[in-house]
Amino acid sequence: MSNNAPIAFIDSGVGGLPYLQWVKDRLPMENFFYLADSKNFPYGEKTQEEIVELVLQAVEYLNRVGNPKLLVIACNTASVTALESVRKKLDIPVVGVVPAVKPAAEMSQKKRIGVLATERTVNGSYLNGLIQDFASHCHVEKIAGSGIVRFVENNFFLSDLKEKNFIIDKAVTRFQEMDVDAVVLGCTHFIYLSDLLQTRLGKNIQIVDSRDGVGNQIIHIIKEKALQSEVKTEDRFYCTAEICVESYRNFAKMFTLTYSGVIGEL
Ligand code: DGL
Repeated sequence: MSNNAPIAFIDSGVGGLPYLQWVKDRLPMENFFYLADSKNFPYGEKTQEEIVELVLQAVEYLNRVGNPKLLVIACNTASVTALESVRKKLDIPVVGVVPAVKPAAEMSQKKRIGVLATERTVNGSYLNGLIQDFASHCHVEKIAGSGIVRFVENNFFLSDLKEKNFIIDKAVTRFQEMDVDAVVLGCTHFIYLSDLLQTRLGKNIQIVDSRDGVGNQIIHIIKEKALQSEVKTEDRFYCTAEICVESYRNFAKMFTLTYSGVIGEL
């Protein structure tokens, strides 16, 4: 059995692309659609109700361009608030991305970990639940990095190293002061600054993201449900508003996706 329908990834912006890349590297015959809900970026500063509504709307947009066989909510903020609502509405498998608190707590020698995420994720009950379940024996230093999210989305290709360093300064200093030895990247946008964060935090602090966990789960579902694709077509990048077209084109190119403009305009 095979299924050539696309695997769809959604995020408020470009944060989910490194997750798509992880899967694309390992399943080269699969077809991918990526949707950046740029019209409603950033999700991290919205209410829970707003996020649920926006994610459900984004899923409807995706269905207009080709019903996906699997949906990845490649956004921690959307997953921790809307994953269950989306699962109830869809009859395809839905994979979420949530902060990798469990592996970080397991690898921390000092039992002191940091979580860098959006305001919504940091202040939401889902993250507290993860901490209670997997890191109750650790001190957890949570930082909301809303400025970093906006910076990556809008200025990643326009900024120099000095500006990139400046935007992560506060978080780096705080994690060092709090003497953590593992930092969870609890927002997909932060992966773009992962190497720089690692350099600044130093070799005694390990950075943890959820790409391996999420990617392996996707591969498992594709195999288990016999959803493998046999025909390779174009992988596409859509947005919901052309806020910064040049930047979207650059991101699409960086991940070898065809830039396909605003999804609602098809
Ligand atoms: N990339 C999203 C995440 O993983 C959030 C970005 C936003 O605030 O829209 O949480």
